[in-house]
Amino acid sequence: MPDTPLRSGFVNQIEGMHKRTQSQQDRLKAVTDACFSLTESELPPIEFINMIGSDTQVHFKAAMTSFFHEFAVRFNLTPSSRVLDIGSGCGRVGLPFSIFLKDGKYYGVDVWKDGVDWCNTHIAPSNPNVEFHHMQAANNYYADDYNPSVENEYTLGFIPKKGLDFAFAISVFTHLTPKDSQDYLNELGRTLDDEGAAFLTCFIIDDFFFRHVERTGMHRAVKQQGDSGFYQGYAGQDFFGGYTRKLWEEMLTKAGLRTIGHELGSWASKPGARVYQDTFVVMRAKGR
Ligand SMILES: C[S@@+](CC[C@H](N)C(=O)[O-])C[C@H]1O[C@@H](n2cnc3c(N)ncnc32)[C@H](O)[C@@H]1O
Repeated sequence: MPDTPLRSGFVNQIEGMHKRTQSQQDRLKAVTDACFSLTESELPPIEFINMIGSDTQVHFKAAMTSFFHEFAVRFNLTPSSRVLDIGSGCGRVGLPFSIFLKDGKYYGVDVWKDGVDWCNTHIAPSNPNVEFHHMQAANNYYADDYNPSVENEYTLGFIPKKGLDFAFAISVFTHLTPKDSQDYLNELGRTLDDEGAAFLTCFIIDDFFFRHVERTGMHRAVKQQGDSGFYQGYAGQDFFGGYTRKLWEEMLTKAGLRTIGHELGSWASKPGARVYQDTFVVMRAKGR
């Protein structure tokens, strides 16, 4: 008889998985604890926090940790992951990544210069692999009036081809015109690695949206631009850009991307919604 009882390969496999999950959970808990213990002087000023849609420091910290935790778990991120944050604002999700990543990479990009400057002064110095880039906008209609005659051009040349394991854009495509969205999607098509994925939030214009407008009277000002499938309304921080599913999928295809997951958002009373905006998980299309 052997001294130790025989164990099946299956049990060994489960044990290995359990150990990996445990060490990931320990890492994530350490990041969450560090985020919740950030002091007022380590957080952006309240007017910056308000600018990106959090009303208080408490909400800022809660959103910071819940987005980070969800991304790390769902996309199996490690301290070596290479990550892009489109519309990084004042570092709400960049902050936890700066604590979590070791030899990985985090790129934050935004048209809001003051937000980028704050991140470069307060977050980047703590981790040499974290960088924030200011995107030059010919027309930054998140801050200024929308000028339809001015064309922006967004490229992310500082990220190598297939240089990303994960990218995300929280509440950014909802503020962009199709041309500006297409620029970023094209860059995702170039920079996502073979197994890389991106988590994108947007407003999909569908039957639920029209029922919501009819029932609540909200968003009556949002109008389709010609028959493009793009719906636009409001100005500045409230700039609303919504896409029919057909147009959104066409834009993804054009960028060499494909949808691998989609969830409805609660913003237009869509059923079963867990989060506010519609969300998409996309990868590079096969053979690209
Ligand atoms: C609602 S805030 C969300 C900020 C951040 N994603 C977060 O969750 O904390 C929208 C952000 O998108 C940025 N933004 C707007 N237009 C952009 C563009 N063309 N390129 C990059 N960022 C943009 C704004 O400056 C702002 O920081």
